[in-house]
Amino acid sequence: MQGYDSASYGDAFADVYDEWYGDVSDVPSTVAALARLAAGCADAPIVELGVGTGRLAIPLAEAVRPRPVIGIDSSQAMLDRLHVNQRSAADAANAIDARLGDMVDDIPPGPLAVVFVAFNTFFNLGTRERQQSCFRTVAARLAPAGCFVIEAAVPDVSATTGNHVEVRTIAADRVVLSVARYDAESAVAEGQFVEFTEAGGVRLRPWSVRYAAPDELDEMAAAAGLALRDRWEDFGGHPYTIDSERHVSVYEVPSIPTA
Ligand SMILES: C[S@@+](CC[C@H](N)C(=O)[O-])C[C@H]1O[C@@H](n2cnc3c(N)ncnc32)[C@H](O)[C@@H]1O
Repeated sequence: MQGYDSASYGDAFADVYDEWYGDVSDVPSTVAALARLAAGCADAPIVELGVGTGRLAIPLAEAVRPRPVIGIDSSQAMLDRLHVNQRSAADAANAIDARLGDMVDDIPPGPLAVVFVAFNTFFNLGTRERQQSCFRTVAARLAPAGCFVIEAAVPDVSATTGNHVEVRTIAADRVVLSVARYDAESAVAEGQFVEFTEAGGVRLRPWSVRYAAPDELDEMAAAAGLALRDRWEDFGGHPYTIDSERHVSVYEVPSIPTA
């Protein structure tokens, strides 16, 4: 999308993110699963790529204290929201180390216990090459017992190239339309939420993703030297099946077999 960069999504959605997506997944089961995965790695940090407003990282930091939780995000507007949410959290002493940066180029040095990327955020990396680079960088930073966790939608293989318009919200003084375009060949979906208000005119919220099926993620993981340890339907550990619409995939550095 012309003019779209890695800060565009966060800058456009920061003001509505918690209202629109605050309950998009189950936070307690996500926090519990991530805390369990980190438990085997002494006090090494947990890193969230695309930490956003801290929906997951704030309760996670509280659950794993004093283990450090580092959040990376390319949008200052999102991080500003995170700081507000953190100040109003029950225990503000559980500060997340929130850093403005890119989820490929600015992953902190290891060894890291868990690196995770939730709610389709991995697909914000707009090309297969950037997604592959993310796998490689994470693999190089993980502690020996560490893992890389991706939560993402399973792409609809029947989705064809085309344009879609849907109504998201209708109120007396507000209409939000979702306008999207899918290109099956490049696996890129992009769109805008277009908000019309009587008082405020038109507001655009753009998004763009390069989606990948679980098999393709496994290929990228293998090329980076990682192996699939677990795949669930969600962080609650429900089994992943061919009917699952989303997945949580846990990748690890394979242990070298001893003779
Ligand atoms: C869908 S939100 C998810 C936020 C949070 N992880 C959650 O689950 O609520 C995606 C986030 O990724 C950030 N983001 C997008 N591209 C990024 C990149 N290349 N590097 C770092 N953050 C990025 C956006 O600014 C946004 O905050």
